[in-house]
Amino acid sequence: MPLPPSGPRSTLASLAVIAAICAGAIGALAYTAGWLSPDRLTSTKLVDALAPSNGPVPGYRRNHAKGICFTGVFEANGNGAALSRARAFQTGRHPALGRFNLGTPDPGAPDATVRVRGLGLQITAEDGAVWRTAMINAPVFPVSSPEAFYALLRVPASKAPNAMAAFVAAHPEFAPFGAWAKSPDWTASYAQEPYNGLNAFLLINASGAEQAVRWSFRPQAQAERITPGDLAKRGEAYLEREIIERVAAAPQRWSLILTVAEPGDPTADPSRAWPEGRRSVEAGILVVERIEPEADGPCRDVNFDPTILPDGIRVSDDPFPAARSAAYARSYDLRTAEAKDYPRSAAEAPR
Ligand code: HEM
Repeated sequence: MPLPPSGPRSTLASLAVIAAICAGAIGALAYTAGWLSPDRLTSTKLVDALAPSNGPVPGYRRNHAKGICFTGVFEANGNGAALSRARAFQTGRHPALGRFNLGTPDPGAPDATVRVRGLGLQITAEDGAVWRTAMINAPVFPVSSPEAFYALLRVPASKAPNAMAAFVAAHPEFAPFGAWAKSPDWTASYAQEPYNGLNAFLLINASGAEQAVRWSFRPQAQAERITPGDLAKRGEAYLEREIIERVAAAPQRWSLILTVAEPGDPTADPSRAWPEGRRSVEAGILVVERIEPEADGPCRDVNFDPTILPDGIRVSDDPFPAARSAAYARSYDLRTAEAKDYPRSAAEAPR
């Protein structure tokens, strides 16, 4: 058997190989950290920009930090099966885990100070395939790209006079969201809100045909309109108390509506609503059966990453889900590494 070469030349060759491997590793690190392209938007930049001026609250989600967990079931009626072969759309009862939340990085923010309410949801079909989605009550997203969202997040820290007015002037797509945010139509319960996915996804059916859709969960509960002032009078954590009492009295229901795109509808821009009158399919009912503890409960270690999709649903040309996935993973890594700061009981949670 030939022996490997030895002596000064082979030592030099080995060192060169080691140096090349190290340079490659450092290069890869520099690339992923964004050092080679300082203008590239990274998950670190997005998550840092979400932090309040006094810094992030350790242990908590870096956005939608205030919330309450639940379990229940998604009762599929089979109407979605023509559009998607995902088992979650076949008639049946599929276990659901989710979280009502407020769009704020502050877990102690008073309810009446946060306009955006959200729903993180996981549906697990009987074949074990998991579908996660995170939706908000706004009918459209404020901006058309992750880069514009980063710019929006940086407005409060800007020293420029009229920074928000300048942002709005540079981003005319903000107007519909801005009008919704200013509207006085708040509701008095998480159970009365619609939750809209806003991002477009492709459904793939049994024949392999693809169709772009957006989805929403529409509440069956009647909306009780309330002004932020009156909501404030009910207490800083009223929504949580209310949903605990409401679900203890009776399960709460939402219809899953799939809105089907027509050719030319914008699939890559969640700030643009699709025209009225698009075909919609009611694919089933989400039943929230039990409120679960938020502190150390079953939602704590779930990342409602919108790219976790079963066979039969895939991402479209919408750039948001990929950007969100990276940012949610960054937030998840940070908060799980800070688990010692996360409350272990409701009594320890901020109020
Ligand atoms: C580039 C845009 C976005 C960024 C950077 C972003 C960032 C984040 C982060 C960091 C979290 C916390 C994740 C965790 O720790 O588990 C989060 C949660 C959430 N986001 Fe986003 N988000 C974006 C877009 C959106 C959009 C378009 C929607 C709705 C259509 C949305 C709805 C939600 C909801 C409902 C949650 C809470 C989910 C839960 O209960 O864990 N986000 N977001």
